[in-house]
Amino acid sequence: MPRRFLVTGGAGYVGSHLVAALGDRGDTPVVLDNFSIGHRGAVPAGVQLIEADLADPVAVDAALAQGPWDAVFHFAALSQVGESMRDPLRYLMENAGNGMRLIDACVRHRVPRFVLSSTAALFNLPGDGPIPENAPIDPQSAYGESKWAIERALRWASQVHGLRYACLRYFNAAGADPQGRLGEDHRPETHLMPLAIDAALGRRPPLTVFGTDYPTRDGTCVRDYIHVTDLAAAHLLAVEAMARGDVRWNLGNGAGYSVMEVLQAVERVTGRAVPHVLSDRRAGDASSLVASAEPALRAGWQPRYAALDDIVRTAFLWRQAHPNGYGS
Ligand code: UFG
Repeated sequence: MPRRFLVTGGAGYVGSHLVAALGDRGDTPVVLDNFSIGHRGAVPAGVQLIEADLADPVAVDAALAQGPWDAVFHFAALSQVGESMRDPLRYLMENAGNGMRLIDACVRHRVPRFVLSSTAALFNLPGDGPIPENAPIDPQSAYGESKWAIERALRWASQVHGLRYACLRYFNAAGADPQGRLGEDHRPETHLMPLAIDAALGRRPPLTVFGTDYPTRDGTCVRDYIHVTDLAAAHLLAVEAMARGDVRWNLGNGAGYSVMEVLQAVERVTGRAVPHVLSDRRAGDASSLVASAEPALRAGWQPRYAALDDIVRTAFLWRQAHPNGYGS
């Protein structure tokens, strides 16, 4: 029987890829978005849309009242590490406040399962080893701190009210729908891969490389890039895994690439040079973030687009076909 899911931030980058995956599977996603970041063009025709702001408790309550829901997926959030270091209280108030308001409404409306879009920005381990889900929590940014606050709230909602939850800590989401239906379009764009692709296409000024003195193999930050469609698949699996208990999964490919290595991949895939300039560190950046995704892999998660060049290729093809993203 088709199941019905509420997806907050379903018009955003990762959320829209989950909405597509749910639709492909025959389930019924309902998108809740205020379009402050998401795009109307990312919501497929025929998908029910609730235009609402999670800061508005009356609107949140009205949305949850449209259940029953098999689960709520919570993506809607501010998500820029750098911005969160310029305006930390905004991140804490909006992300944590909205998350807790939504959890509270889920408890009152007897939603059985809650899946949180969480982040690798919870961690800051020395060295470049893979990070397991039980590694010490030590956010280096207000963004990471805001997601940790929601994870903690979920723990209490589970313990006291029986709300089952999954915290999915993405490492670096990247790439675009392999069928070309969806892609990455942040305004402003701050992420490495789309900026490097646009720099290669001559659509932006040279890319600024933030920091060349990190304790990594070439001095630039190392990240674990995970295809957004593989992330969507992990969400579907998490809903099944929650039948066996609450879930905390780190989601990445277990392979780290430096900023310079990403630029080289973009050059291989596009066949063009990526103009760039070297610069100082960006506040809030950890040196190396690589996932150990063992629990998700044991539960049957099988990333299909693990090769860095495949991730870059899907992002490049979408950008070529959509030079203005989802439009003005
Ligand atoms: N970088 C540059 N130049 C740029 C943009 C990025 O050198 O113009 C570098 C960053 O300093 C970082 C790496 O490229 O070392 C990746 O940066 P992104 O901004 O693409 O991604 P982040 O690692 O900062 O953050 C992403 C998500 C967060 C998430 C985090 C967890 O945006 O939501 O991954 O790893 F929390």
